[in-house]
Amino acid sequence: MDVLVVGGGGREHALVWALDRSPSVDKIYCAPGNAGIAQTAECWDITPGDLHGLARAADEHAVDLVVVGPEAPLTSGIAAVLDQVGIACFGPSAAAAILEGSKGFAKSFMERHDIPTAAFRVFHDLTPAVEFARGPDWGFPTVVKADGLAAGKGVIMCDTADEAEQAVRLCMEDGAFGAAGSTVVIEQCLSGAEATVMALTDGERLIVLPPSQDHKQAYEGDQGPNTGGMGAFAPADDVLDADLLEQITERVLRPTIDGMAAEDRRFQGVLYAGLMLTDDGPSVLEFNCRFGDPEAEVVLPLIESDIGELLAAIADGTAPDAVTISDRHAAIVVLAAEGYPAKYRHGDTIEGLAAAAALDDVVVFHAGTGQDGDRIVTTGGRVLGVSGTGDDREAALAAAYRAVGEISFDGMHYRRDIGHRNQEQE
Ligand code: AMP
Ligand code: GLY
Repeated sequence: MDVLVVGGGGREHALVWALDRSPSVDKIYCAPGNAGIAQTAECWDITPGDLHGLARAADEHAVDLVVVGPEAPLTSGIAAVLDQVGIACFGPSAAAAILEGSKGFAKSFMERHDIPTAAFRVFHDLTPAVEFARGPDWGFPTVVKADGLAAGKGVIMCDTADEAEQAVRLCMEDGAFGAAGSTVVIEQCLSGAEATVMALTDGERLIVLPPSQDHKQAYEGDQGPNTGGMGAFAPADDVLDADLLEQITERVLRPTIDGMAAEDRRFQGVLYAGLMLTDDGPSVLEFNCRFGDPEAEVVLPLIESDIGELLAAIADGTAPDAVTISDRHAAIVVLAAEGYPAKYRHGDTIEGLAAAAALDDVVVFHAGTGQDGDRIVTTGGRVLGVSGTGDDREAALAAAYRAVGEISFDGMHYRRDIGHRNQEQE
């Protein structure tokens, strides 16, 4: 089987890496890919937003399966465009991807199906939104969210009425998140440990993958601005044990899949639940309609089954009942460019990649890299995801940090405390 992976970050490198290990997969293409992906896959210079360009190229190359990394092509309907040329798509239809594409939809859906989530209100107009934000039923802090896709930036925590009003105005009046902010969700602020549970589903069967935790803040001790994720590990079995995972499966994942099917929005692909583990039980912070990044980089390496075969079966509606999961642990440390997550520098030469990759239990996933002659240079804010595996979390982290020690580029920064959050809180 020949497979096209859509996207060009660390998550897509992990998908390409996993597909490359799959006996069922022959040729791998990636659009647009990056310098690391290009070592394994043939990369095409087509952006993930060019749905018809992707479908045309996939058709010309007789691709059997397209695996979609990022959310935007899914919410724009890439599955239907591929269906027109008879190519299977791993990733939900636009009708199902709305679970990520509209937070308002997701919240109302959860209310309809009795899925635990923070109390909320949805507003389409400025005046009532401001009025509510200044005095929410549940008091402060409160959370203001842009309804649509905002690259992880459309969530604003507010401690006071003035902050909440400002946040609503930022979304609805200033258009800081474009059309994504013309509708806002105002919700109760929850507290607890955060964890991610991803499940593969063909719309009916559910394969729950090991839970993971990512580290969203830029600096150590969970300080500083939010990022796309500075590191992650799996399994996060200390905060989320087998009993709790069972509870999440029954109270969140199962009713979501069944509810989407009942609403004629059959969800096929990977359902990502971002959860807050509160004293009153798990509560859904968000759904995503694709693999998390960097969560994919720590969960995919734990799947021992043939990933190509698995993703094709999900796309085809014939998912197996279970997959083989390794009992090892995985961790990833993201190396970021100077300035990230704000304006960052790029074009710096990356040294030490070969030495890092030569270490045992290490894979270096490229996120924002490009080839410049014979140099590999930085092109993105998150440059590399250095991953390690081991018999326990400490061993996985040790492998990852050993490899980090081999790599350098001007302005490189990373967190030295990945994987240590729960211990610190105890
Ligand atoms: P989201 O994109 O909705 O997952 O939000 C991004 C981040 O904001 C989450 O990972 C949480 O850290 C935080 N967050 C979102 N909603 C809430 C909430 N209701 N209470 C507390 N924190 C939240
Ligand atoms: N790591 C969070 C996400 O992929 O949305």
